Amino acid sequence: MSIRLDRFISNNASLTRSEAQRAIRTGRVSVDEATVTDPAWRVGEESSVRFEGAELGRRRLCYLMLNKPAGLVCATRDGEHRTVLDLIPGGERGGLHPAGRLDKDTTGLVLLTDDGAWSHRVTSPRGECAKVYRVGLAEPLPESARRALEQGVELRGERRPTLPAEVEVLGAREIRLTLQEGKYHQVKRMLAAVGNRVISLERERIGAISLDPALAPGAYRPLTPDEVASVGSHPSRISGQ
Ligand code: URA
Repeated sequence: MSIRLDRFISNNASLTRSEAQRAIRTGRVSVDEATVTDPAWRVGEESSVRFEGAELGRRRLCYLMLNKPAGLVCATRDGEHRTVLDLIPGGERGGLHPAGRLDKDTTGLVLLTDDGAWSHRVTSPRGECAKVYRVGLAEPLPESARRALEQGVELRGERRPTLPAEVEVLGAREIRLTLQEGKYHQVKRMLAAVGNRVISLERERIGAISLDPALAPGAYRPLTPDEVASVGSHPSRISGQ
């Protein structure tokens, strides 16, 4: 995965994007020992980049897990609400984006990265990474509704029913729901389709990556190398397909 040279310079030399572009155009930046004057030049993971002769370090990709509290939106910026990126100090935030979205009132596991190819695998509609949610319900879930959720339900505005899901009953009004796709408001719409209503929603797991119980709401930590590598190498499809 590569990123633009101007973005790399602004992230790593504490310059604004336009200052970085000026530095590049005026010949103050080199990549792998050669001066580069094109701000759109792509910098690979192993590139050696120098600004005014000083090595800025090889590009390291960043992967974080965050325990999202309610009230924040999953976006890089928002005119109205605080975003999950507001929980990351400015110096560490450059280039990060959430790999998939949770609603403003949903809590739990959010992955943040600057690796676009990796986040594409996390969110891929091909179901590489199952998403696991703990769902609080307004009403008890009859067995017929549980089976319907598992087999697939029709959602308004969608051409096809939802893919097979797994439902684990945790209590009278609480289930664990495992999905292999991520349609807009999917959990809430699925429960509405069987005549129920979601009153609390927490994402516990994405693929093989579980929310670290040591993370308080609002806290984050880097992913371990095994967690990063698990995306794509542990297909977590739901059985029976
Ligand atoms: N499904 C929803 O309805 N909301 C979320 O935030 C995530 C999944």
